[in-house]
Amino acid sequence: DMGGHDTYMHKEISEQPDAVDRVLRGRIDDRFSTVHLGGLNLDPREARGIRRVKILGCGTSYHAGLIGAGLIESLARIPADAEPASEFRYRNPVVDPDTLYIAVSQSGETYDVLAAVQELKRKGARVLGVVNVVGSAIAREADGGVYVHAGPEVCVVSTKCFTNTVTAFALLALHLGRIRDLSVADGKRIIEGLRKLPAQIQEILEGEEDIKKLAAEYAEAKSMMFIGRVRGYPVALEASLKLKEISYIHAEAYPASELKHGPLALIEPAMPTVAIVPDDDLLEKNRAALEEIKARSGRILAVAHRVQEKADHTILVPKNEDELDPILMGIPLQLLAYHTALALGRDIDKPRNLAKSVTVE
Ligand code: M6R
Repeated sequence: DMGGHDTYMHKEISEQPDAVDRVLRGRIDDRFSTVHLGGLNLDPREARGIRRVKILGCGTSYHAGLIGAGLIESLARIPADAEPASEFRYRNPVVDPDTLYIAVSQSGETYDVLAAVQELKRKGARVLGVVNVVGSAIAREADGGVYVHAGPEVCVVSTKCFTNTVTAFALLALHLGRIRDLSVADGKRIIEGLRKLPAQIQEILEGEEDIKKLAAEYAEAKSMMFIGRVRGYPVALEASLKLKEISYIHAEAYPASELKHGPLALIEPAMPTVAIVPDDDLLEKNRAALEEIKARSGRILAVAHRVQEKADHTILVPKNEDELDPILMGIPLQLLAYHTALALGRDIDKPRNLAKSVTVE
């Protein structure tokens, strides 16, 4: 049942305010400015003993894990990184008892992720799951975890589950942070930011008509570049994947600072750039990248908190706390990918060559 929408993807994009509300519900503890995560199976003493966090996933879940790693580093000050699950399991990784491993999966059935979890458990590691489908293979195999409560996702490309997974990581990072060195004041600040998310997502969705007009213009591109920095880079990776998957337009994502180390050679009017430009401490750096692109006659679409003069178009998103901005900045780009694919007449819910869950190696 598409509930009045033409595609599941559109329905699922539209459901995000409610979905995010669900991942937050019942978990916030205002008294101690933290969150409770019932199924974590990690007591405070164990949480304090974690020296590293390694996040594993595939595709969109890997991208959500990259943002999750950033959240854990900034809020809990634990070194964290994310890696595609298959890369991890094929390189005979050093499994360290003080590392917390986190497997991310919408379906909970992705073979590469499941195999990585099984290998880790066989080597005695502690593995948590950040999973959408309750009772799925990865959820059962993990020692504990956080359900992301996005609800059923039917479209082959992931949208609402990405947003909820990143939000679930914000909860986990806040929880770990408040057990360690995150102050009450910062805990409160993040909680207030989390509470704003559903209404801010709604506000972004209300800009759909404008994004649709932009999509009609960008649908002519043969290839597109996506750039971001630090928190914005995984947003660029995910937006570029979304565009590829459903529009079949070639897209690349790069950290903004890497442009001058090579990809700048590709910039010309026929290769537009989508730039993630949040109003944070890296704003000036990002503006410099826009200037570099403009100087090569590149067209620029910025996703930003205020209009970017160097860009040909800016999609404005509401500002949240710096740490939570990536949750919002990807959403207009889901709509951009959607309307680009629609303008090109693609089969949005079932893109060619792809399956919803990849249960083979
Ligand atoms: O179910 P999972 O989250 O484990 O799936 C992982 C990837 O296969 C999945 O995210 C894929 O990249 C989607 N097509 C993204 O839209």
